[in-house]
Order: sequence, then structure tokens, then C-alpha cells
Amino acid sequence: MILVTGGAGFIGSNFVLDWLGQSDEGVVNVDNLTYAGNLHNLASLRDDPRHVFVKADICDSAAMAALLARHRPRAIVHFAAESHVDRSIHGPAAFIQTNVNGTFSLLEAARGYWSALEAADKSVFRFLHVSTDEVYGSLTPDEPPFAETRQYAPNSPYSASKAAADHLVRAYHHTYGLPTLTTNCSNNYGPYHFPEKLIPLIIVNALAGKPLPIYGDGQQVRDWLYVGDHCAAIRCVLADGAVGEVFNIGGWNEKANLDVVHTLCDILDDLRPKPDCSSYRAQITRVQDRPGHDRRYAIDARKIEHALGWTPAETFDSGIRKTVQWYLANQPWVADVQSGDYLKWVEQNYSDRGATALAGAVLTSSNQASESA
Ligand code: NAD
Ligand code: DAU
Repeated sequence: MILVTGGAGFIGSNFVLDWLGQSDEGVVNVDNLTYAGNLHNLASLRDDPRHVFVKADICDSAAMAALLARHRPRAIVHFAAESHVDRSIHGPAAFIQTNVNGTFSLLEAARGYWSALEAADKSVFRFLHVSTDEVYGSLTPDEPPFAETRQYAPNSPYSASKAAADHLVRAYHHTYGLPTLTTNCSNNYGPYHFPEKLIPLIIVNALAGKPLPIYGDGQQVRDWLYVGDHCAAIRCVLADGAVGEVFNIGGWNEKANLDVVHTLCDILDDLRPKPDCSSYRAQITRVQDRPGHDRRYAIDARKIEHALGWTPAETFDSGIRKTVQWYLANQPWVADVQSGDYLKWVEQNYSDRGATALAGAVLTSSNQASESA
């Protein structure tokens, strides 16, 4: 079997569902169920003996060692992390704890387990660390996309903590020979995405008749990848990636935030028109920018395409429409995650932004901003 950390989160739960949809190899799913972990994502596996859920903290090295000794996985796929940039600005300590110390604890447990394996098991074991394109910092409009050779230049507490984790993984391979693999992926979207992140936040706010908050001028660029394509890429890297290597994963889908929000509004206008026939675009509201906001991310995915033959199955148009349809069909899931804790976060992140001189400015097109009355 394989051991997955963070398998109750957005990408982790998609990965577990995807894995068990294609293979009978079991999954031990280790997650301490922070606000972002949700066992409802895995409800379809409730009676499936191939899925073993364990509530545990990756920072607890002894617990991780005991789990490895008990389940004897042939691989670890490490998703568990604090993942939201805005939360890392409000409270960086949890990011250092889980992303840096937690990855260190897990590496130590993995090193102890792997060192004691028989030669045959030792040679096939893999530790796959799931990371982000944000470790490379921000691109200017004319720079080429991030290749694996790009220098690290993280700009937020989140990306700095992920960069630190990447360096630890690299060091454990270089120093101890632990058979690691690292993936650095661009922005994901799709089912089970927690509505603190841009795409699900816009969908749920639009349907609730609430403002659609655009940070700053809305011209920041992200490179979007459907989550199922990320899961497929991780499976390819785990199966065939050369030990010690890094693979950047992305969909060649650079989009300005405001264009993404316009697309979402247009799809909702089509699938769930408002009774008065007005467009959801009228809810778009400009708010104060994110401090240190990275301007542009883009991934050069040629290495994984050429070395492993992976390419995304979804275009942005097909993936984003599927995603909106999923949220429309899964309103009880949305209602469930919008608990008291979620409401507190929304208040903390957006109340100050709304109180600035920018509040109430309505963006009318991808490069034009006008103040509302
Ligand atoms: P998420 O926040 O939705 O889920 C994280 C999961 O980790 C949750 O289930 C949470 O309960 C669990 N977790 C957190 N701290 C833990 C701890 N100390 N011990 C055990 N479990 C813990 O995150 P996501 O968006 O699914 O991201 C998963 C991974 O992929 C992260 O490592 C992230 O950095 C990386 N990544 C995310 C994206 C993206 O667009 N979301 C893109 C590239 C890489
Ligand atoms: O690039 C990969 C990263 O993508 C992952 O490593 C992170 O875990 C993941 O959260 C994501 O980070 P971003 O900061 O890019 O994602 P987010 O959805 O928070 O924001 C996307 C863009 O939209 C970003 O430029 C900020 C902007 N934004 C976001 C929110 C929540 C808004 O304009 N308004 C908002 O309300």
C-alpha cells in the first residue's frame, strides 16, 4: 500500500479517490483534520477496506514511525500542509510548524523506516513531496515560465515554508540517499476546493449574491491546472520519475485573475441565470491588495511531458465548466464547509480590505477600473 498525508484536503482527497478508482493498492490516509480537512470528501470510501483513515499530526514523528512500521507502505505521498497564502500572512506560525517541522518529522520517520527495509523493498521505496510553483517567486510579464532550474525566491510565509520543506527533502536525498521525488505544481482548481481560494470563493459568493472580491487591479496571473490532471501527474512521477528529481507540473493556462472571475460569472449566467437576468459580473468588487502579492506564476512543464509522457487532459474551458457544475450539484457540501470557523476567517480576511478607499470600486473589464457610486 501507499501512505498519503493530507488526504482529506482538496488535492489529497482528489488523489485518494483517483488512486482507488484506478488501482486496488490500498491507501493509508494520515490527516489531522484542520479546518481544511474534510472526511465528507471521502464519503464514497466509507465501506471500502482499501482505504484506512488515521487522524494524526505529521509533526508527531513517533506516531509517523509507528504508522510506517505497522502498515509498511512502499511509498509516501506527502500533501499535508497549511496551504492558503492569506492565512500565512495573518498567522505564519502554523505554516512553519506543519510545512517545515512537519515535513522534517515525516522525513525522519521515513528515513528510519527506509533504512531498515530489506534491499529489495528499499530500492523500490519512494518519498514523493508535493510542492508548489510559489517557491520560485514572481515572474515579470516577459520572463519565461519557471523551469526546474529556476532559482528559489519565495515571497510569502507560505511559499517560504514550502521552499524550506523542498530543501529538506533535497538534503535527505543528497545526504542519506532517501529515494525522494519532488513536484512543484501551479494553481489547482476542481471539486472539493475549499471556498477560501479564489475560484470556489467566487462561485459560492456569486450564488449567495455577495461581492466577488478582486485583490488590487486583478491583473495578477496564475497558471491553472484541473486537479485531476495534477493527480495523474503525481501518479506518473511516482511510477517512473528518476529518484532525486524535481518535476514542475502545469497546464500552460496563464490567466489574469479578473479574466478568471469574468469566465466564472459568464458560466453561472448560462447555467444558473439570475431571476432579474442581470449578470453576476455586477457583483465584482475591488478590494485592497494582498501584501507582497506575487504578480505572475507560470510553469514550464516540458520536463514531465518529455520524460514521463504526461499531458493535461482538461483545457481551462472544459475544467472550469466542470468545476462550476460540480459546485452547483454539491450545494450541501458547500453549506457544510461554511461553518463557524469559515465565517470567522471571511470576517478576518475581508473586513479590513472593505474599509479602504478602494472598497466599492467595480472592475468593468480586464484592464479598466471605475469607482462605483
Ligand atoms: P488543503 O489545505 O486543502 O489540505 C491540506 C490537508 O492537510 C488538510 O486535509 C489538512 O487537514 C491536512 N493537514 C494540515 N496540517 C496537518 C498536519 N500537521 N498533520 C496532518 N495533516 C495536516 O491543501 P491543498 O490545496 O489540497 O494542497 C495540498 C498540497 O499541495 C500542499 O502541500 C500544497 O502546498 C500543495 N499545492 C497546492 C496547490 C493548490 O493550488 N491548492 C498547488 C500546488 C501545490
Ligand atoms: O501556485 C500554487 C498555489 O496556488 C498553491 O501553492 C497554494 O496552496 C494555493 O492556495 C494557490 O495560491 P494562490 O495565492 O495563487 O491562490 P488563491 O486562490 O488564494 O488566489 C489566486 C489569485 O487570486 C491570487 O492572485 C490572489 C487572488 N485573489 C484571491 C482571493 C482569495 C483575489 O483576487 N481575491 C480573493 O478573494
